[in-house]
Amino acid sequence: MRRAFPASILFVAAVSCSSTKSSLAPDPWEGPLKLAKAVDLNPDPHVLEVNLDATYAEWQISPTQTVHAMTYNGSVPGPLLEAHVGDTLVVHFTNHLTEPTTIHWHGVRVPAAMDGSPMAQPPVQPGASFDYRFQLTDAGTFWYHPHGDEPVQMEHGMYGAIVVRGDAEPAMDAEGVVMLDDLTLGADGQIAPPGGAIEEHSGREGPISLLNGGTGLTVPIRAGQRQRWRIVNAGSARFYRLAIPGHTFTVLGTDGGFIAQPYEASELFMVPGDRLDVIVTGSAAPGTSATLQNLPYDRGHGGGSATTMDLATIAYDSASMSGAAVPASTGRLIDPLSTVGATTRTIVFDELIDPNTGDTTFTVDGKAYPDVPSFDAHVGITEVWELQNKSGMDHPFHLHGFFFQVLGANGGPLSWEDSIQLKAKSTTRIAFSPDDRQGMWMYHCHILEHVKSGMMADFRLTK
Ligand code: C2O
Ligand code: CU
Repeated sequence: MRRAFPASILFVAAVSCSSTKSSLAPDPWEGPLKLAKAVDLNPDPHVLEVNLDATYAEWQISPTQTVHAMTYNGSVPGPLLEAHVGDTLVVHFTNHLTEPTTIHWHGVRVPAAMDGSPMAQPPVQPGASFDYRFQLTDAGTFWYHPHGDEPVQMEHGMYGAIVVRGDAEPAMDAEGVVMLDDLTLGADGQIAPPGGAIEEHSGREGPISLLNGGTGLTVPIRAGQRQRWRIVNAGSARFYRLAIPGHTFTVLGTDGGFIAQPYEASELFMVPGDRLDVIVTGSAAPGTSATLQNLPYDRGHGGGSATTMDLATIAYDSASMSGAAVPASTGRLIDPLSTVGATTRTIVFDELIDPNTGDTTFTVDGKAYPDVPSFDAHVGITEVWELQNKSGMDHPFHLHGFFFQVLGANGGPLSWEDSIQLKAKSTTRIAFSPDDRQGMWMYHCHILEHVKSGMMADFRLTK
């Protein structure tokens, strides 16, 4: 459901829109796909100040289906937080749920105390409030969600998108946020409680596909039109291999903002937590339609989509247009991080099967959180982590607070990431250079059931 905001709240964000929209072209993000923006309470154009309330609400997932949800401000996804790089974000958060929660700002380089992780703050108790305040230092697409009972709270709808615009953004014909998720309903038609051997092992992959909180949606497009999609994988455990048969995507950016050179891709691979910033070009004939699909993917141990799933219809209207040009460069350069003098660590992700009960524990360096030994990293000293996934299934690795580069020969263009795939039985090397935000920082698998079972760890950043 999309709750209407009270008209009595006067200051609405004055967000500069960098795209030059052709007024005649269909804009999918003016229709049912549009995410409502958070109401800005602060007249200062460089401060986005909002209220976020964790509340129970009814969530309309289709015209005929409503489920009990846990939400931010009554809607799923929660309000879109849209700001300009350098702006300050102030969030007055109140927990109206009957259970504790926090907000984690996935991908945003916040101070450690604002990170919303179990290391950063005690959970906000029912009825209590907490103010988050930090600067948005990077342009890109980020998201927010709780860090506490993730398989329940996030599955029930607690997530929202953050768009931070840079000074020079390519002008497309339309732009919007695409938040992907899925749902499992029980026999009572409500979101099923978590649990069961398969879910605890592989994570929940629900049969109901959601795009911006709804099912079976249509994205209007026009032949020749170029739409910019900021895609977020907000699912519990779903890996996406997105394709629109007959179309290619142009990739502009990843977790940490733009890459240097846009490139064409026929598929987009996204692990839980991932973001991609892409251009979708209306390359089919007027009056036709296409389908946004999730192609099959085997992520090990029976997890993954065995069949192609349809996520949305792409519907062409009867006209054509000459759309915006695809930029040859994003204007951003990314230098490879020097690893000279770096501290190198090996971190092992594995699963332990109890021989008596058959239960699986997902581990980091042989232990489950909070028993994983932590270590010290130092401001300005580059960290090189060799991430060994010894288990038989893929794990999406997420690092809080810092963007990293993937080292070596995976062939992709240089990018800044915070969420990446660790393929089963493989090793991935990453490097990052921590800036001066001392404190405790977490890293974990972003399959929510694996977070819950302890595939999570932390380190201390000091001088
Ligand atoms: Cu989106 Cu600790 O994660
Ligand atoms: Cu995992």
